[in-house]
Amino acid sequence: MRGEAGTDGDGARRDGPGPAGAGGAGMGGAGGAGGAGGAGGAGGDAITADVVRAGGPTFGLRRPADLAPGPDPGDEPGLLEAIRSEIRASGPMTFARFMELALYEPELGYYAIGRRGPGRAADFLTAPESHPIFGWAVAAQLDEVWQRLDRPSRFTVRELGAGTGALAAGIVEGLDRRGSALRAALRYRVAERAPDRHAQVHARLEAVGATDVLEPDDGAPIEGAVVANEVLDALPVHAVEGGPGGEILERFVALDEDGRLGWLAGPASTPDLAARLASEGIRLEPGQRTEICLAADAWTREAAAGLGRGLVLLIDYGHPAAARYDPARGSLLRAYVRHRVHDDVLANVGRQDLTAHVDLTAVERGATAAGLDHLGTTTQAAFLAGVGAGELLVSVQSDPSATLEGYLEARSALFRMLDPGVTGRFAVMAFGRAIATAPPLRGLADPGPRRP
Ligand SMILES: C[S@@+](CC[C@H](N)C(=O)[O-])C[C@H]1O[C@@H](n2cnc3c(N)ncnc32)[C@H](O)[C@@H]1O
Repeated sequence: MRGEAGTDGDGARRDGPGPAGAGGAGMGGAGGAGGAGGAGGAGGDAITADVVRAGGPTFGLRRPADLAPGPDPGDEPGLLEAIRSEIRASGPMTFARFMELALYEPELGYYAIGRRGPGRAADFLTAPESHPIFGWAVAAQLDEVWQRLDRPSRFTVRELGAGTGALAAGIVEGLDRRGSALRAALRYRVAERAPDRHAQVHARLEAVGATDVLEPDDGAPIEGAVVANEVLDALPVHAVEGGPGGEILERFVALDEDGRLGWLAGPASTPDLAARLASEGIRLEPGQRTEICLAADAWTREAAAGLGRGLVLLIDYGHPAAARYDPARGSLLRAYVRHRVHDDVLANVGRQDLTAHVDLTAVERGATAAGLDHLGTTTQAAFLAGVGAGELLVSVQSDPSATLEGYLEARSALFRMLDPGVTGRFAVMAFGRAIATAPPLRGLADPGPRRP
């Protein structure tokens, strides 16, 4: 599953050094260290264990055992050329700009091409892609929210970054399986940057006989729930480094004399970077490399503005600011390609996913500043247990039409979602508007292990 590595919240585990190791200003080689040897790129004891099991240092934990990593695909030539031209014309670009182009440039970026992204045949697996039991569990939480809102006749889910529609299909299936009356009230809106994904979501819902729930998204505030799984980590981030005098240097993407991409440190492109860290009481050590996601502010504001009444549910890997920026953790910027995680983020331009662990503190502050109530933040494991994922698994076992193979698939996927060494430590952040904040929602009843 995507981002399974280095999601520890207790500070006991530590990620390895950042992509290009520590160091000062100056042009680094394209992508620095990492690539095939990037064991440190995944981080923590858990990844080490998985690496050992996998027989080599190249796999992230989100690579399920039955998926062999494939060879590097190389760069998307048109995109690489466009990036080179922009650098030649305007000078070194921020990594946030590079990530924006690499992931989202129309017709060329990673997510602009429908066949890339999550999936067994693609580069990584997210929880909803790995098994619909994840969507069934989210459906259980939505059912409770619907009841708490007094069962409105229309309950709209807006899914931000819906990808291929795996979660959408899982939610509908989950409501069907529990015989929930919410199924009749459900409307589903997809807010997805990648144009091809809308057709994929439609096809996914068609396969479960549920295209009736789809409606166009005009962005108007909804009554229901705004949901996003593994989207915040896909927002462009600035790459930064602590300067010798306590200032923040920015790591830009530049060209060397042979036209190869590399890193170049210089003064920060915007004072917002220092302001963000100062507001969180974070001070980078000289040479400490990390990332700052300024884009999360506007994204969270927009997500909040789209909710009239109900729940915002954000699921992702990340840490509170103090842990996210712990010097021992280093850079948490990663690339995923063909079920391999590594830290050579300038390689395979446009053909690998780029992602950074989320600063949960920034998101929680952004959501409450946008007028939402913070209903709680817990771990994915505690959330799934709270909404009854165990019972959902038992229901598969006791289903007379289920096969042993189907049951084992569900069990192994759920175990990975619950395992704190895999994705069980992902964060589930819940916010509400005009909804009772007590008692806690089922998924939030257990706050999970204390986070630093
Ligand atoms: C890592 S994928 C996760 C897909 C899906 N949620 C899942 O769990 O399988 C991130 C998705 O978020 C989408 N995305 C990124 N930024 C977005 C934004 N600002 N608005 C809507 N979608 C966005 C990308 O196009 C991509 O499909």
